[in-house]
Amino acid sequence: MKVLVVGGGGREHAICWKLAQSPKIDELYCAPGNAGIAAVAECVDIGAEDIEGICGFAADQKIDLAVIGPEVPLAMGITDALEAGGVKVFGPNKKCSQLEASKSFTKDFLARHDIPTAGYREFTDKDELMNAVGIYGYPMVLKADGLAAGKGVVIAENEADAKKSIEEMMGQKVFGAAADKVVVEEFLTGVEASMLCFVDENTIVPMQSAQDYKRIFDQDKGPNTGGMGTYSPSLVFTPELEQQIRERILEPTLRGFQEDGLDFKGVLFIGLMITEDGPAVIEFNNRFGDPETQSVLARMDSDLLDIFLAVTENRLADVEIKWKEERAVCVVLASGGYPGSYAKGKLIKGLGDVEEDVIVFHAGTKFAEMPEGSKCAVCDDDCGLKRGIVTAGGRVLGVTALGATHEEARAKAYENVKRISFEGIQYRTDIGVVDRRNSNNLQ
Ligand code: AMP
Ligand code: GLY
Repeated sequence: MKVLVVGGGGREHAICWKLAQSPKIDELYCAPGNAGIAAVAECVDIGAEDIEGICGFAADQKIDLAVIGPEVPLAMGITDALEAGGVKVFGPNKKCSQLEASKSFTKDFLARHDIPTAGYREFTDKDELMNAVGIYGYPMVLKADGLAAGKGVVIAENEADAKKSIEEMMGQKVFGAAADKVVVEEFLTGVEASMLCFVDENTIVPMQSAQDYKRIFDQDKGPNTGGMGTYSPSLVFTPELEQQIRERILEPTLRGFQEDGLDFKGVLFIGLMITEDGPAVIEFNNRFGDPETQSVLARMDSDLLDIFLAVTENRLADVEIKWKEERAVCVVLASGGYPGSYAKGKLIKGLGDVEEDVIVFHAGTKFAEMPEGSKCAVCDDDCGLKRGIVTAGGRVLGVTALGATHEEARAKAYENVKRISFEGIQYRTDIGVVDRRNSNNLQ
């Protein structure tokens, strides 16, 4: 079987790493991949948003299954295009991809099917929104309707900040057309958790839960990022809460998909707020989370290919998905300056010093030639290649460790983080620290 994974970040490394363990795969490709993915798949130099290029490659290589990592190609309709060429695709079609590409589409879906979420209103006119400033009090939650690389949500603490953000979103158009429509929501208080689910037309199956850290600095300070670390399972889930999520959110969501003719096949990522009144949906994403996937797939004991194929063929209900008892912690190492501007091309040292059972998922890395006379920095020997691995993105690596207990996994992850270095390196030191945000099910 020939499989193509689309994307080139930490999430795609985790997917390729897991797929590479399947005995049923003869050839595994990744477009465009990165320096870490190159160890488990053949990287092809085609961008994840080059739909034509990817379809052409899939046709030439007679790819059997394509797995789509990021949200942008999904929203562009890559699934529809590949399926039209006879390729099986794990990842929702363009119609279903609106669940991430349009906040108002999702809010309307949730309201129509009586699924708990924050109250909301939609605005397409700046003046009307200015007049409605503070409609739900403060903080005021403002969301650009469209895709904005995870940056389109503003939580404004007061009227002045809210007005400034409205001006930026709808006046200066800092998010472009993504904020032609703005969704205003009630502010929910509680503990956040992410739940990734496999979904086909008949079945929704949650994976193991995970906790993400979105802010750049310790103690949730500083601006939002794509995610600075995760651990799995989440410590906030109790059997009772899981049942509430199943009954109030997962089952009505699947019924809603069926009633609305949304033939979703892929991963539904549910951002949850666990409030005093129970779980509520903050957002839907229509793909694996990054870096949630790194700590969740590290714990999977089944063949991921079997699951992907079952989803594309609507046989998910027949597959048993097994998980390791071990806990996982993933710490993201980022470039200095991220999530603002940052330098690239910094040599990464110490990758070979990491313990063998620790997985270093690459997010933003690439190979670079080493100067004349130096050793190969990849194998730390004289292999003749003289290659080094350098930084090539904001999030660079995700150091992922398993342990019999949460604390063991956390200690092992940080022990190995210390062995890696590059100029400007920054990471949070509190990933997985148990505190008020996650202490109600400490084990
Ligand atoms: P989203 O991109 O919709 O997940 O929003 C990004 C972040 O903003 C979430 O992870 C929450 O921390 C916060 N957020 C979004 N919506 C709300 C809400 N209605 N109430 C409180 N916080 C929210
Ligand atoms: N870690 C959050 C996301 O993947 O959207």
